[in-house]
Amino acid sequence: MTERFNEVAVEWDKGDIRQEIAASVFKTIVSRIALLNTMNIMDFGAGTGLLSFKVAPMVRSVTGVDLSIGMLEQLESKNVPSLHVKTLCQDIMQTPCEGKFHGIVSSMAMHHVENTAQLFQTFYAHLERDGFIAIADLEEEDGTFHAQHGNDGVHHFGFNRDLLREMIDKAGFKNVRFHDAYTVAREDGSYPIFLVTAMK
Ligand SMILES: C[S@@+](CC[C@H](N)C(=O)[O-])C[C@H]1O[C@@H](n2cnc3c(N)ncnc32)[C@H](O)[C@@H]1O
Repeated sequence: MTERFNEVAVEWDKGDIRQEIAASVFKTIVSRIALLNTMNIMDFGAGTGLLSFKVAPMVRSVTGVDLSIGMLEQLESKNVPSLHVKTLCQDIMQTPCEGKFHGIVSSMAMHHVENTAQLFQTFYAHLERDGFIAIADLEEEDGTFHAQHGNDGVHHFGFNRDLLREMIDKAGFKNVRFHDAYTVAREDGSYPIFLVTAMK
């Protein structure tokens, strides 16, 4: 999976749908959560920073966590010191970050992680008291969303809201809420994307 993202990294931002997803996810996040200039935020699976750079002007810092060095290099190529966007190429489920965060945002990365329950436990452990998560991904689909690249590194064909809510509750989060964020409309079908928010 990481190799594929390294290969596509240079072209990533040219995808209009990717830009639209990030813009809609950001809009949905700010309609639900007060981002403050005192907050240190993690963008999990930040990629080239499509979401990170939208969040950054509103908060103290954003740490873009990703396993693909190629994607993070593209993020760095757009970075400016005044935005306080940092990058971290690390598997935080194996090697946790040193510091904690006031919030964790993520767009379209969760379906690439096999153990979703462990991912939410990891998020919980990385949050300050009263920290939030705002995680966007596909609603349950039939596997056609990524079919053109053979579902390489895709561990979940979207998510069932009820099952995901159970996992998030079990990890210890409160106030779990689902919001409609965007729908990808393609010739082969419609793919709704949710944003799930919750508090530590
Ligand atoms: C579909 S891309 C989305 C990138 C970005 N969030 C966006 O909206 O453009 C998924 C990203 O998640 C990253 N990723 C997958 N598994 C990961 C993991 N376990 N830890 C960190 N990043 C991961 C991939 O390397 C890739 O950059």
